Amino acid sequence: MKGKNVVVGVTGGIAAYKAAELVRLLVKAGAQTRVAMTAHATKFVTPLTFEVLSENRVVWDMWDGQESPMSHITMSQEADLIIIAPATANFIGKIAHGIADDFLSTSIVAATGKMLVCPSMNSRMLSNPAVQENITLLRKRGYTVMAPQEGELACGERGVGRLPEPEQILEQARILLSEHDLSGMKVLVTAGATVEPIDPVRYITNRSSGKMGYALARAAALRGAEVMLVSGPTSLNPPRNVKVFRVKTAAEMRDAVLGHHAECDVVIKAAAVLDYKPRRQSKTKIKKLEEIQSLELVRNPDILAELGRRRSGKRSLLVGFAAETHDLMSNAREKLRKKNLDMIIANDVSREDAGFESDTNAVKIIHRDGRVEELPLMTKEDLADRILDRVKKLWKETA
Ligand code: PMT
Repeated sequence: MKGKNVVVGVTGGIAAYKAAELVRLLVKAGAQTRVAMTAHATKFVTPLTFEVLSENRVVWDMWDGQESPMSHITMSQEADLIIIAPATANFIGKIAHGIADDFLSTSIVAATGKMLVCPSMNSRMLSNPAVQENITLLRKRGYTVMAPQEGELACGERGVGRLPEPEQILEQARILLSEHDLSGMKVLVTAGATVEPIDPVRYITNRSSGKMGYALARAAALRGAEVMLVSGPTSLNPPRNVKVFRVKTAAEMRDAVLGHHAECDVVIKAAAVLDYKPRRQSKTKIKKLEEIQSLELVRNPDILAELGRRRSGKRSLLVGFAAETHDLMSNAREKLRKKNLDMIIANDVSREDAGFESDTNAVKIIHRDGRVEELPLMTKEDLADRILDRVKKLWKETA
């Protein structure tokens, strides 16, 4: 979202409080965010809340003398995206019929950028034919209208009408603002840890949270690629527009990857696959009294090495990660060579702010021709885009 101008239009519904979280998320994602409110919305949340969160002045009164007479034009012209959240039945009706009687509605009439409308209201209001026709009209004109969610409504009733969660609105905004520069590319990403059971209640695993792999899958999908994600167990929400295959053991991950890699142009293996598994898995819980003195382990298949061996003349890219605590570069170079990769992401996992579990990462990218690029500490989302930039360039070069 960096470098993007986003306007959040807040109208007068109880869900206006959720717009505060949306603004916080947009700012965190790097968007230049401005807020415009209707007068009714200011009865639910004060402009000051949005001013603090957006670090920008909030406009809600066209006549307060603080705004230039043309600011409704400039604000809407500069916006890459206008999000109306929440959008009330009244406001949807106004914009569907070109009514411009306050700052926000006037800005929308003047807008030329993308529009994202997030209705939120009582379910009977939502199903009213006039509201439904207005929503259809907006969709016909190219506005994206998010479907309201089902659940408990502010009036105490249950039904459809809830504002989607701010994270979902942010995800939709990302989709609308993305450039689709990877469209036509099929990408397979692996993420998270694998687990190997010892008995029905115990297992061995590692610290991978899946964040790095999920960030890669999400970024590739946002950029228009067709994405398959083979994921070990994780608490993360699946990214939108990504086909997710859930696996537990290394053998299951191998089956899923080998079953689909031939359909893909690019495979990125961010998963932390367990190299070993217990030789025997007890079918019943091992009792404390039996005291396990030692755990005999056997090797798991090396999925990436197998993909490297299977490479044919078909145009494809193979990208690996190397998680190391010492001798980072020499170990990573060795893996790149042995596994027959095009690129390896050397990840120093001894750092607190990089590697496992953290939201940030700092890596060195080693190319097949020996070139090394050192990337500074950044969010895993940003790093995913940087890795995909390299993948895109290499893909073009191999054409
Ligand atoms: O999930 P997070 O908490 O966000 O953490 C991210 C991460 C640290 C897991 C990620 O950035 C990372 O470094 N992933 C690779 C972890 C790893 O297993 O590295 P490795 O050096 O052991 O393996 C090298 C490569 O071979 C990896 O691409 C791995 O997926 C692959 N491999 C390894 C073993 C095996 N049996 N099969 C494999 O395919």
